[in-house]
Amino acid sequence: MTHAERRAALEAIAAEVRVCTRCRLHQSRTNAVPGEGHPDTEVVFVGEGPGFNEDRLGRPFVGRAGDLLVKLLASIDWRRDEVFITNVVKCRPPDNRDPQPDEIAACQPYLRRQLEALDPALVVTLGRHSMGRFMPGARISDAHGTVRRVDPATGARDASVYALYHPAAALRTPAIERASYEDIAGIPPALEAWRARRARAGEAQAPDPVAAMAAAVTPDERAADLRQPAATAVALATTIETPPVAAPAPDALRVPMPAVDPDDQLGLF
Ligand code: URA
Ligand code: SF4
Repeated sequence: MTHAERRAALEAIAAEVRVCTRCRLHQSRTNAVPGEGHPDTEVVFVGEGPGFNEDRLGRPFVGRAGDLLVKLLASIDWRRDEVFITNVVKCRPPDNRDPQPDEIAACQPYLRRQLEALDPALVVTLGRHSMGRFMPGARISDAHGTVRRVDPATGARDASVYALYHPAAALRTPAIERASYEDIAGIPPALEAWRARRARAGEAQAPDPVAAMAAAVTPDERAADLRQPAATAVALATTIETPPVAAPAPDALRVPMPAVDPDDQLGLF
């Protein structure tokens, strides 16, 4: 997809979300919150659902949890307008209760289509509910700070997923806040690893797709045999959690992100 096509696709999804009545959450919302960010980004952050401030403004992560997310991003030299930020459900659950399974299911096509349009290399989940979509069966206390391959059925065709605690949990618990800073430091290396893998797959461009995929598998990923059907590959991918990354020089942590043209921002008004 070209930049213009991606932008148009994301705007079309956002327009549908703003008037959506597919689940009961539409009844109590002030504004739906489709998500926002850079249409050419390689990284998509997925939270749980809008809270009070997000519902008021129609934008994701604009309250205290959002302030912490911005600080976490700053610790790796990233800004929120360089990534895309959205949620599992696009409308605020009343009284900030957990989204219910039927609400998550009703909203799922929007997130899937956003991921199809963005085609990220890395999905970052914020909290349990988001992690549940991308790392089924994982426990946040084990999975935070780890990476797996994403099931393409989520809409992310060729991505890895990296789990973080929800920033709201970090606001409540200092130990979780400390863990969140440690975890987010692993994101640039995880992005670089998957970016390199995608580049190798692109270069291979072999007429035989099996050969192309085999070429993209690094020795560390032997266990994840990509020639298997997707579901098997995902199950096997639980064995490719990132090894502890030796502390890189600060410069090496800075993964170049697309140059940001403010006019290209989606959803910022
Ligand atoms: N918490 C979320 O999960 N999402 C938001 O957009 C804001 C707070
Ligand atoms: Fe539609 Fe999702 Fe909002 Fe439910 S939460 S009304 S499915 S946009």
